Amino acid sequence: MSTIVAPSLLAADFLNLEKEIDMLNRSKADWIHLDIMDGVFVPNISFGFAVTDLLKKITRKPLDTHLMIVQPEKFIDEVAATGSTFMNVHYEACSHLHRVVQQIRERGMRPAVTLNPHTPLSVLEEILPELDMVLLMSVNPGFGGQQFIESSVEKVARLKEMIVRRNLSTLIEVDGGVNLETGKKLVEAGADALVAGSYVFNADDPIRTIQALKML
Ligand code: DX5
Ligand code: ZN
Repeated sequence: MSTIVAPSLLAADFLNLEKEIDMLNRSKADWIHLDIMDGVFVPNISFGFAVTDLLKKITRKPLDTHLMIVQPEKFIDEVAATGSTFMNVHYEACSHLHRVVQQIRERGMRPAVTLNPHTPLSVLEEILPELDMVLLMSVNPGFGGQQFIESSVEKVARLKEMIVRRNLSTLIEVDGGVNLETGKKLVEAGADALVAGSYVFNADDPIRTIQALKML
């Protein structure tokens, strides 16, 4: 089975989004990763639903939406309206994570919980069976182009062990500083899906770069 690749639109050329989406449509990318930031949960603001509502009209790939906002439960309907397949909410942003996960599923999306680099895997103990995916941050969220945190590889291996031990089929996705070198280590440790922003969009040939990541 080849690695699931989810290019992050954060690193795309925003003046030419239609062209960028067209490139992704023609590529072997599995999903498109959408990073929504509020300037409160993370120290940056990206784009909002006015943009994602337009994107959904032209993309032919499933959307993997990553909310880096406080109280993500307020926007479940908006994310569902984008036609997103996955809705990723941060563990650190939800007081009632179990309820949010149920609501995401009720709205027809696949729930995923995201952990910041400092957050231990032990917080997943109770919620893991309810999730379709865990998104491990391998940089501190908020910006593209940051340096990969090496200890993420071992964190992936420990999460994989937790999932296998409990006989679950939860996917593991990793986000931040992914390139061919870090991606290879992550896949060997048990990652199913890789998010890649700057590595894909800054490449001379993004289509070939996506293909190379898929072969890891
Ligand atoms: C960071 C975002 C990432 C970001 C990754 O907060 O969640 O999805 O776009 O960018 P790269 O791949 O450049 O580290
Ligand atoms: Zn992301």
